[in-house]
Amino acid sequence: MSYQPSNARYSNMQYRRCGVSGIQLPEISLGLWHNFGGVDEKSNYQQIVWHAFDAGITHFDLANNYGPPPGSAETNFGEILKKDFSQHRDELIISTKAGYNMWQGPYGDWGSRKYLLASLDQSLKRMGVNYVDIFYSHRPDPNTPLEETMGALSAAVQQGKALYVGISNYPADQAAKAIELLKASGTPCLIHQPKYSMFVRWVEEGLLDVLQKNGVGCIAFSPLAQGLLTNKYLNGIPADSRAGKEHGALQSSAITPDILNQISQLQILATTRNQSLAQMVIAWLLKDRRVSSVLIGASSVAQLKDNIAALENLHFSAEELLHIEQILIEP
Ligand SMILES: NC(=O)c1ccc[n+]([C@@H]2O[C@H](COP(=O)([O-])OP(=O)(O)OC[C@H]3O[C@@H](n4cnc5c(N)ncnc54)[C@H](OP(=O)(O)O)[C@@H]3O)[C@@H](O)[C@H]2O)c1
Repeated sequence: MSYQPSNARYSNMQYRRCGVSGIQLPEISLGLWHNFGGVDEKSNYQQIVWHAFDAGITHFDLANNYGPPPGSAETNFGEILKKDFSQHRDELIISTKAGYNMWQGPYGDWGSRKYLLASLDQSLKRMGVNYVDIFYSHRPDPNTPLEETMGALSAAVQQGKALYVGISNYPADQAAKAIELLKASGTPCLIHQPKYSMFVRWVEEGLLDVLQKNGVGCIAFSPLAQGLLTNKYLNGIPADSRAGKEHGALQSSAITPDILNQISQLQILATTRNQSLAQMVIAWLLKDRRVSSVLIGASSVAQLKDNIAALENLHFSAEELLHIEQILIEP
């Protein structure tokens, strides 16, 4: 099937400035960690990318190791880019990362200059692009000097292989140091990518303040807690869900009676707002203007549509916010 992007693609999406940079990101971005690998169905993931772009989603997030097998999400996305987006590269913000295990031996993991720059070259090749828009250090490396890791990010920009750099999973104190180093090297940190959802809130204890103070954007990953914060698991574990699939990263052991109780209560509240639970959960993250974008995953176009419709209502009353907090502190 051939694809023609919708002419109306910019009419509904809202864009937020990423920190104090020149870049604006869609309020919802699409991540290709799951559902875009060699094990997944091409016709499905192709439709998801098409629909995302038609809805104004300009930002697609990858990493060297996304698949499975590792690397296959970049290869598959590269094929879609070549076939359907060759005229639209300048409308896209494509990110990739290196920091987790990618190849054998001592140079295929963590944060050395050797690993990061070799990995970026491999990512560019797999995707068939000359540059990525954002190159991330995927996680802090306790055994490599931060200067070396940040120096490698700067080098990627100086070599023309990335336009901007970012960090992911860095705690507030290390993020502050990384931001300082990047600033001094003339390649300021564009963005931080932390895990952030109603269930995972560490960023509220300092990181968001550090980012705001330094004019760095924030893109929240796993906003739906990998699908937990939806109605998906209320009646058991579907075989085709992330928790049901062999290669899914969500452990079925995470779905405890206490968690299900919280999800049920959140679902009831979402209904009173005329939203699905996924929509309420996404809206709740976007209520904070320090969040530049919410980075969702989707295994179908229907899920993507459901999530994008969250943008129709980002407002919460004080009572609703309090009610959410009460639900979340219950065991
Ligand atoms: N920097 C990092 O270390 C890091 C780590 C993890 C992720 N990320 C990035 O963040 C992106 C998103 O992460 P994520 O996939 O964990 O995000 P998520 O949005 O929390 O979870 C996505 C999953 O939730 C389910 N889902 C989505 N929308 C739904 C809906 N409306 N109703 C019911 N279920 C729905 C789907 O699961 P089913 O497959 O079960 O249908 C989908 O695959 C990744 O693709 C990646 O780009 C970054």
